[in-house]
Amino acid sequence: MDETTRTRLAFIGSGMMAESMIQGILRKGLSPADSIWASGPRPERARELTARHGIHGTTDNREATLNADVVILSVKPQRLRMVLRELQGTVRPDQLVMSIVAGARVSFIAERLGAPSVIRAMPNTPAQIGEGISVWFATPEVTPAQREIGRGVLAAFGEEIEVDEERFLDMATAVSGTGPTYVFLIMEALVDSAVHLGFSRRIAQALVTKTVLGSVLFARQSDQHLAQLRNMVTSPGGTSAEAIYQLDKGGIRTVLSKAVWAAYQKSVLLGESLSSDEPQARQSDGRPPSEKMENGGQA
Ligand SMILES: NC(=O)c1ccc[n+]([C@@H]2O[C@H](COP(=O)([O-])OP(=O)(O)OC[C@H]3O[C@@H](n4cnc5c(N)ncnc54)[C@H](OP(=O)(O)O)[C@@H]3O)[C@@H](O)[C@H]2O)c1
Repeated sequence: MDETTRTRLAFIGSGMMAESMIQGILRKGLSPADSIWASGPRPERARELTARHGIHGTTDNREATLNADVVILSVKPQRLRMVLRELQGTVRPDQLVMSIVAGARVSFIAERLGAPSVIRAMPNTPAQIGEGISVWFATPEVTPAQREIGRGVLAAFGEEIEVDEERFLDMATAVSGTGPTYVFLIMEALVDSAVHLGFSRRIAQALVTKTVLGSVLFARQSDQHLAQLRNMVTSPGGTSAEAIYQLDKGGIRTVLSKAVWAAYQKSVLLGESLSSDEPQARQSDGRPPSEKMENGGQA
């Protein structure tokens, strides 16, 4: 790799999502290990990342940031204020800042850091195996070259979709960022149902996993509407018709829609509480923001 073109990346927050992104970046050869810094409070985590990936693990957020072309904010939402305060004056206006922090708005980050080039992205956990999907928004100050670097970083661990309005990020948080939760919950319920019928857990898990995987690949290859694919297996008076009747009677569509809406509202609320000048301000339901972020602001 040409010394002048290698992108230097600094991850502030070296948890699960940061490591997934680092793995993808190394796999795709976007940047070599010695051009990647990852910073977090625990020295043992820094040593672990260095041993596992050969990157620079550190406990010093400022040091990690100094030489980076891209500073990636990958801490939990409740740590963001503290981290931005710490990095004030260290991040230069010419550095690209990329945030994956749920809810955190670009204006808030840009103002706090005095760095106008900000990309807000919402990846998801299949990034761990290079099968993630990220939705992202860039401020107008992001240069074309930085935009391509940002796109490359996100494409290293899955697909990426750029949007031209930031409000889509809260929607993506509810749909794709939180999406694996819905899928795993539904899969878990199906496995339990199969066990209830009498299958061993091993066979139940195999049946459900392959059915979901096969259906996803089938839907992706097909140009038919999802309802048509479903109709294919719904014969009159048959088993699918019976099952769908019960699913609709139980309100599955409404429940899913309410879940997505609730996740969306939560993301909006996270953004509002982060941007607020009163960190301890109580929200509409009376709970303080810290309590409202009890899930750690997971997407
Ligand atoms: N998980 C998801 O599905 C998902 C999807 C999309 C976006 N996100 C977003 O990604 C971000 C990270 O999520 P995650 O799942 O990777 O969480 P995580 O595994 O808890 O990672 C956060 C990391 O930040 C470190 N940290 C804490 N305080 C810090 C500080 N002051 N300076 C630097 N690092 C600090 C933590 O260290 P310790 O462990 O030592 O506290 C931890 O390693 C969140 O904002 C979340 O909203 C998550």
